[in-house]
Amino acid sequence: MFIKHLSLANFRNYENAEVALEPGVNLFVGPNGQGKTNLVEAIRYLSTLSSHRVSGYLPLIRHAQPEIDQAIIRVLAHHDSRDALLELELNRHTPNRARINKANSSRARDILGYVNTVTFAPEDLDIVKKDPSNRRDFIDELLIQVSPRFAGVFTDYERVLRQRNTLLRTARQTGAKGTSLSTLDAWDENLIKFGSEIVAARVALVERLRPLLTEAYQAIAIANNEPRILMKSSLMGATISEDDDAESLEYIDDVSVVEVEALYRGKLQSVRSKELERGITMVGPHRDDLVLLLSQLPAKGYASHGESWSFALALRLASINLLRAETRSGDPVLILDDVFAELDSGRRSRLAELVSTNEQVLITAAVGEDVPSELRARVFNVKAGEVSDGE
Ligand SMILES: Nc1ncnc2c1ncn2[C@@H]1O[C@H](COP(=O)(O)OP(=O)(O)OP(=O)(O)O)[C@@H](O)[C@H]1O
Ligand SMILES: [Mg+2]
Repeated sequence: MFIKHLSLANFRNYENAEVALEPGVNLFVGPNGQGKTNLVEAIRYLSTLSSHRVSGYLPLIRHAQPEIDQAIIRVLAHHDSRDALLELELNRHTPNRARINKANSSRARDILGYVNTVTFAPEDLDIVKKDPSNRRDFIDELLIQVSPRFAGVFTDYERVLRQRNTLLRTARQTGAKGTSLSTLDAWDENLIKFGSEIVAARVALVERLRPLLTEAYQAIAIANNEPRILMKSSLMGATISEDDDAESLEYIDDVSVVEVEALYRGKLQSVRSKELERGITMVGPHRDDLVLLLSQLPAKGYASHGESWSFALALRLASINLLRAETRSGDPVLILDDVFAELDSGRRSRLAELVSTNEQVLITAAVGEDVPSELRARVFNVKAGEVSDGE
């Protein structure tokens, strides 16, 4: 698929912008801080309801005096000889809304599944090097694009988790009594229901991603060390990890939802007294982790800087192939935000070669010359929240 047109109103530093895009490569060039990343962030946000820079959405609404209450991202997408007009309203004081082909507006998450994107950005190094939450975000963003209904499952799980934590904290303060414990049992069942769906879906997705990852890594790294991706879960084994540090977790693979439910139920029973003591939910998908291995060693802590880059990039290239194979919208739009400056010339030209077959690629760069010349066909200049034709 590709995006024909992007309109922004009061998004980040854009008051208004109209950008006609083309299939193939579109390159956005301009000095630092002018709005290049903001532009591609808008497209990523519309397709995943998440950003690579912030967790909430309020920073996406243009900051101005007097205060602005609404930002709008509008995209005309094209796939299979059909156009779809997608509009996302980000509202400061009311829930966000989506509008598809000018129909009545609906919940924001109804927009998922129309436009798919895969973004590669310097922040992706965090997937390899940093906390479990970075890796969970990676796999969950992909899961939501493959199966948009999971956006609802995540919302439900997070709601139950919050309420259950509140109940645990209350029970800790007042001392666990009969009534609060039976309420806790009821919350447990919801936690198990939504949480097990997430765990089973992540495990299955990781298994489908694994062969694609090996292929992608070998295509960019020209090295014969083999990358692997595995899941570890707080539902497995006898130990309980004390915080969001996944070192002590055990591997999980090839499980059905029903099997995860049984594991979850058993685990909740065994940690119940500890949870009441601590006032927090200690097991579930919010405590799980992906393990990235390079030649049997964890990439986190062992891989070199260059290897970590290749690993992060391979995760994204594998995601493209997975979305292409499993969704109805064909090639996802590939966004390369500020990555060429960080790559050596060999990796630059290999990346250029790999992405040149994707139906649409959006690239940002502060210095146009950092981008291999074959990718510099359609160039836009970005300056102070305005986009104009370049070169
Ligand atoms: N909500 C907002 N309202 C107004 N301006 C914003 C908002 N959010 C970010 N900005 C401004 O947008 C600018 C950053 O834009 P962006 O990140 O797109 O830059 P860039 O062109 O990608 O730069 P670089 O080359 O450094 O990556 C900053 O000047 C920032 O202050
Ligand atoms: Mg940028």
